[in-house]
Formats: sequence, structure tokens, C-alpha cells
Amino acid sequence: MNMENGGQGRQGGFPTTRMRRLRYHPGVRKLVREVAVSPANLVLPLFVRPGEKLRQPIGAMPGHCQMSPDQLPAEGKEIAGLGIGGVILFGIPAAKDAQGSDATSESGIVAEAVARLKDAVPELLVITDVCFCEFTDHGHCGVLAERCGQMDVDNDATLDLLARQAVVHAKAGADMVAPSGMMDGMVGAIRGGLDFAGYEHIPIMSYAAKYASGFYGPFREAAESAPKFGDRRTYQMDPATAIGQALREVELDLAEGADLVMVKPALAYLDVVRAVAEKYPGVPLATYNVSGEYSMVKAAAERGWIDEQTVAMESLIAMRRAGAQIILTYWAKDVARWGNG
Ligand code: PBG
Repeated sequence: MNMENGGQGRQGGFPTTRMRRLRYHPGVRKLVREVAVSPANLVLPLFVRPGEKLRQPIGAMPGHCQMSPDQLPAEGKEIAGLGIGGVILFGIPAAKDAQGSDATSESGIVAEAVARLKDAVPELLVITDVCFCEFTDHGHCGVLAERCGQMDVDNDATLDLLARQAVVHAKAGADMVAPSGMMDGMVGAIRGGLDFAGYEHIPIMSYAAKYASGFYGPFREAAESAPKFGDRRTYQMDPATAIGQALREVELDLAEGADLVMVKPALAYLDVVRAVAEKYPGVPLATYNVSGEYSMVKAAAERGWIDEQTVAMESLIAMRRAGAQIILTYWAKDVARWGNG
């Protein structure tokens, strides 16, 4: 060691400052951690379809399955027992039609699933996805009309249906509704519908900034909701638009009454998560760690190329570090079992 050079350090550089001092001792490493992923902040998506004693594995999402409503009480008890924040329900109806009728029916699959869950596990927070793509025979997120010479989702005609769907969910016992269709005015319409029906206490978590993403691929198998023609680019956001557009989406949803907002997908959009968190520090922010983000880790881990737990935790930590309080993730149960180590 060159003692004559000791003064150098006092100006702040090496060797006085050694960042590794914060890393040698595992206890120090633990002490200086700031970001934690707690099961209480996670929401687990569940896929429900009509049937009995059904647990149909989803090929593209190892570890997940479509289940019949009779499976939900045991499933819900396990989830609640693990301390997970809640579940979000997606339904695959017995029959689809142009209007997505099952979605607005009090005997529809989601209404049945909510009732079964709340009856068996009242303490479990049950959120419902409010959208039509799983219920329409054409696979789009609302009813269709011709526009500019092609069939497209009719925004305003869909709003009334979304409000009815949300009320059906609330009536069945849903604790929160989460509109994901990216229709203009959807939050206001749903808020109006819920309030009019006496559910003014039910919060809305809006998928406020939802991008048209290739990362939803495996979900479309899970929810059987792939569009039969075209794509969702006339309603979901273009990944290449300025972040300011995401901020406008959030601002509008808040003005219409959203209580919580979401950015989706998560990993490729952490800049958007950060921007929303900074601009709206008082608004609970969720991000959706979507199916493709899960499946690509699963696939690589199956080949032995990466370690699932390490990569999953690293991804979830990044989402929290970017500013998301809540994460919707297919790893919710795994996180609870892995612990925070
Ligand atoms: C639409 C909806 C989608 C997802 C959640 N809600 C699919 C889509 O927009 O095509 C995707 C979730 C995932 O990929 O995990 N109801």
C-alpha cells in the first residue's frame, strides 16, 4: 500500500471508498436490502372453465391449469394460507357468441367461480378481469362494428356491456374489478354501473397502460381468447409510442374513477412503471408479469439454461424497484414457498 497516496482517498475515490465492504458479510448484504417481494403484494391469476373435477394443464404455462369451479374452494384455501394478496379470475365459458353473453350472465362462469370462492374462503381477495375476449366467438375485447371498411370493436357499444359485466361480478361477490379491454371511457362506464347498482364501495383496478404485446401468447392458450381475425392494435397501445401517452391513459382512468392502475406487460415496460410511479406517487400501482414473461423463463429453465427461482425473483424485484407495489404473477405461490432469501 502506498501510504504517501493516502490523501487521494479523502477525495472520495479508491481506496477509501470500497463498495465491496457492503457485500462481504451476508448480514450486511441483508441489512442494506431495500426492495422486497412479499406474497401479500402479489395477485395470482386463475383460469376457470365449466366442468367437474377438472384440472386441465395449460401446455404453454407449466404449473398452471384451467380448473372447474369445484376445485376453487381447496385452491383458494391454499392461496390464502400462503399469504398471497389475492387472485384474479379469468373465465372460459361453455359457449361463446358475438356478444359474449356469458360475461353478462348471472349464471356465467365467472359469476359462478366468484361465488364458489367467496363462499369457501371469504378472507381471500377476489378480483375479476372485466373484458370480453374470452367470451366472444370472434375473440375481440368487445362487440364488433364496421369501421373504415373493416370489422373492429365498437367502443361505445362495448361500454354498456362492460358495466353490466362488472355489476354481475360484484353481485356474485367480487371484491375488486379490473377492466382490461382498453376501451375509451371503460372506467367511467363501470364506475357508473357499479354505483348505480349499489356497489360504490367496490374498487376498480384499471389496466390503464396496456400494450399490444407478443408476451400475451401463452395466455391466449390459457384463456382460449386469441382473436379469430386481425389483432388488438386498434385498442391496445403501440409499444413504440411515447411514455407520455401511457401517462395520459393513466390520467384519464384516474379522472374516470380508477382506484388502482396497472402497467402491462411488466418486464419490457419498466420505464413506464417508473414514469407512472413518479408522476402519481399516491396511486397504488400494479404491473402484470404476463404469461410470456413466465413461460420463457420456464422454457429456459427446463433446458437447464437458467435457474427459475433466481430469474423469477430477480424479475419481480426489478418490478418492485421500478415502482410497482402490486404484481400480478403466475409465480405467486412459488414466491410464497421460496421465501425472501
Ligand atoms: C384480456 C387480457 C389479456 C391478458 C390479461 N387480460 C390478453 C390480451 O390482451 O390478449 C394477458 C395476460 C397474460 O399474458 O398473462 N382480457
